[in-house]
Amino acid sequence: MATPLTGTVIITGGNGSLGSEVALTIAKMQPLVHLLLVARDITHDESVHQVAEKIRLIGPRSLEIVKLDLTSLEEVVVFARHTVQRVLDRIIPPIVGLINSAATLSFVDDGPTKDGFDPVYQVNCLAPFLLTVNLLEGFKMKGSIVLNIGCSAFSEGQLDYFDLHPPQGRSTLSTREGKLRFGSSKLLMSAAMYALRRSLRHTARIPLNICTLDPGVLAGESHLARDLPTSVRVGQKTRRGLRPLVRMFSKTAINPAHVPAKVIAKLVFQSDDRRWLDAEPYYILDDVYEASSVLEVLRDGWKLDRIFEKVMRDAGLAGSSTSSSGLSPSLTP
Ligand SMILES: NC(=O)c1ccc[n+]([C@@H]2O[C@H](COP(=O)([O-])OP(=O)(O)OC[C@H]3O[C@@H](n4cnc5c(N)ncnc54)[C@H](OP(=O)(O)O)[C@@H]3O)[C@@H](O)[C@H]2O)c1
Repeated sequence: MATPLTGTVIITGGNGSLGSEVALTIAKMQPLVHLLLVARDITHDESVHQVAEKIRLIGPRSLEIVKLDLTSLEEVVVFARHTVQRVLDRIIPPIVGLINSAATLSFVDDGPTKDGFDPVYQVNCLAPFLLTVNLLEGFKMKGSIVLNIGCSAFSEGQLDYFDLHPPQGRSTLSTREGKLRFGSSKLLMSAAMYALRRSLRHTARIPLNICTLDPGVLAGESHLARDLPTSVRVGQKTRRGLRPLVRMFSKTAINPAHVPAKVIAKLVFQSDDRRWLDAEPYYILDDVYEASSVLEVLRDGWKLDRIFEKVMRDAGLAGSSTSSSGLSPSLTP
């Protein structure tokens, strides 16, 4: 009789630099896990075939790669509902980890998505939030983790950026503006996700470990920002030149993707670590901080409630069956 699988791990951006490395690491460390990689284009993208092939070479593994474009709220909901149904029907094991790694960084304003939002906000914040909420029933609640891949750029972000800068359509953003837009999406994502964590704990008594991990700067080819302005590209060259020096000062400065991937894979499978059940961990590589010491907004219950309401509303969740099942703000712990 075949050994039963122990759990499902979902990775968005499963073909990206970090996402694919996390998939490979988990495939090596956890042969009995069902890996569900999510990618935008599963037919033409070479990186999708590459990660599948590399996992196949490790040995027999349970792997599937599913197409999902995170700029569509509808696609996110359909994917999540279908996945939950497969868990309930015991076709795949319960979810033990959701790693929200997909992200987009763009210096072009292409106008709104068909849902009416800035694509950077939708991919980096709304989609992972909506995905997490719609997957809730599929989680093995005890010891499961939602790991949101953050970025130090959040510190340059503004909570009201997307209210003040609605997408206009075809125009190029300055480097400063593009980074502000990206940082704002990451800031909102982390804030909304910790708010969701609080809401699930305090109003629905669901102890899901939702937290952010900043992997540090990754060496090598990231697909992020194919439309970088020249000034940023020049900046990257300079950074590469300084890499050996920077490394001497900080182990988290620039690492190949397999370094954070190992940390992430370990975290997913030690998340029944009870130390963090009542606190809110924020990881910078393998260092752990209290989230409110990193994200100031977590110390302001009123502000956080407003962010939670906004993201719930934008994700189409306010007033839905999800909110009547217990998801509401009033998050101050
Ligand atoms: N690279 C760094 O130095 C760095 C530093 C700190 C934090 N991070 C964070 O680490 C995570 C992974 O970054 P990375 O460097 O691995 O970048 P990456 O190689 O560009 O991976 C990003 C992934 O997101 C996917 N994605 C983008 N838009 C999508 C959409 N609309 N629908 C579905 N998938 C979409 C990409 O798919 P496609 O291949 O189809 O575009 C790709 O698989 C991100 O959250 C990033 O913010 C990265």
